[in-house]
Amino acid sequence: MSQVPYETAKYQKDGNIGIVFLNRPNSLNALNKQLFEEIESIFDEIVKDPEVKAVIITGQGDKAFAAGADIEELRHLTPLEARDFAMVAYRTQEKISNLPKPTIAALNGYTLGGGCELAMCCDMRIASEKARLGQPEINLGIIPGGGGTQRLARLAGIAKAKELVFTGRVIGAEEALQIGLVNKVVQSSELMDEAVKLAREVAGKSAPAIYLAKAAINRGYNMSLYEGLNYEIECFAECFASEDHREGINAFLEKRKPQYKGK
Ligand code: COA
Repeated sequence: MSQVPYETAKYQKDGNIGIVFLNRPNSLNALNKQLFEEIESIFDEIVKDPEVKAVIITGQGDKAFAAGADIEELRHLTPLEARDFAMVAYRTQEKISNLPKPTIAALNGYTLGGGCELAMCCDMRIASEKARLGQPEINLGIIPGGGGTQRLARLAGIAKAKELVFTGRVIGAEEALQIGLVNKVVQSSELMDEAVKLAREVAGKSAPAIYLAKAAINRGYNMSLYEGLNYEIECFAECFASEDHREGINAFLEKRKPQYKGK
């Protein structure tokens, strides 16, 4: 397992899985500007590394994935500075959501505000039974500024998003599962094993096929059904340019396991 040093984040590679830790446990991994910038450069590293086939993001410590934006840093912001802060978060989130590899957020505790927004940028979320999720910004007299009003509405529906954003109510992992905010709830002792298991499962598929599936789902979601279906056809056709598609189809017909090269 190799490791690259960062201050507020941590990055490890475990075979072909990249594991990113939000690493400010003393402040429940509150997201400050430095943390966003470090995550951004970790994702710049990941995108260039062909060895990494799937990524897990989690929080250091046993209490929090991230308890939101660093409230201390928000304290004296002018509207223009608040905009700059939100733009730093936005740039990082774009790197995560557009990464052409699958991403899994492993929610090991409080997943609030910007923490919930960061988790929603990932393709899938696994929550420990102890995870608590929400967008409590309203209790500070502000609103989510990192996609909370947009991604939550898309994942959980507009009525639930309004309920959670207007009340700031924090929900447990089971309720998050019911509303579609997380994919699975597991015992906290099993969280990383489950996340790694899922990461390995998707890392074993053809990387170009995963990338094209992600593009079709993510981009298609923002299109009309007609446009989305046509975009899917283009992505489907592009699969046939890969070596992997030939290997996948041949392996099935030859009754063997495919050996994908990611090409
Ligand atoms: N920003 C900055 N610091 C934060 C933080 C945040 N979002 N969330 C927690 N912390 C800090 C606390 O100030 C405390 O620091 P201290 O030990 O120096 O006093 C430390 O993390 C531990 O938090 P604490 O509040 O003592 O833990 P708790 O178990 O009693 O409560 C929470 C946990 C998550 C309920 C509570 O910390 C909280 O409500 N956090 C803010 C959540 C929020 O509003 N997020 C949206 C921000 S826009």
